[in-house]
Amino acid sequence: MSAPAGDACGNSRSVTSNQDGVHPRLFDVVSRHRRHQDRTPIHPRDAAVVDQWLQFSSPFSATAFDAGCGTGESTLQLAQRRPDRAVLGVDQSAHRLSRIGRHAMRNALLIRADCSGVWRAMERRDVTVDELYLLYPNPWPKAHHLLRRWHAHPVFPALVKSARVIELRTNWLIYAEEFAAALGVFGIDVTVEPYLAQEPISPFERKYRDSHHPLWRLKSKEAALSRTGV
Ligand SMILES: C[S@@+](CC[C@H](N)C(=O)[O-])C[C@H]1O[C@@H](n2cnc3c(N)ncnc32)[C@H](O)[C@@H]1O
Repeated sequence: MSAPAGDACGNSRSVTSNQDGVHPRLFDVVSRHRRHQDRTPIHPRDAAVVDQWLQFSSPFSATAFDAGCGTGESTLQLAQRRPDRAVLGVDQSAHRLSRIGRHAMRNALLIRADCSGVWRAMERRDVTVDELYLLYPNPWPKAHHLLRRWHAHPVFPALVKSARVIELRTNWLIYAEEFAAALGVFGIDVTVEPYLAQEPISPFERKYRDSHHPLWRLKSKEAALSRTGV
């Protein structure tokens, strides 16, 4: 983890960065990733997530992927809000996933895996979901950490193809602006708006709300995604 100090509520430090705007190399990095096929091998554990997900989600009319779900609280909330929607929550941290305990829901599947491997496996098998949620991804705010942010990661083209609608929430406006610019490379329009988390759905959302951080929500426009056919 880089900027977020922990999961305790109310005393979280704001993101500090040596960037004062979108990273000057962002466009080149994203364009390069778009041009070159990502040939990173997929770990069998990440590939198996797709098989499990296809079987799990088949009875449902709608699907969502909560990537980097942490404890899985948001996965369960998203599932509870719409019983017709199957929600996949993936996090690499066994520790975080174990915190919520066993709250089985018929439409929520929580799995420990690497999201980048899951996106690659989804792309290679042509599997998509209706909605992708990226709730408070690690910001990696130092300029030299650019490639660790999801939008500058080699897996970004596969991430883009994985869903019809993408929603990102963050407490660092530059992260949202860069994500928007990176989606722009794929011809996808978004809105970025201040977000008031009146009813937080995840531990980080609650922590940032209680610490009075300004929050931002980016949403892609569905029509744009289908128009570009990515
Ligand atoms: C800042 S926390 C946010 C957690 C949760 N979404 C929330 O809002 O409370 C970022 C989460 O992303 C997870 N993460 C980071 N990189 C990941 C990866 N490649 N695959 C799966 N999970 C990842 C971390 O383990 C961590 O739980």
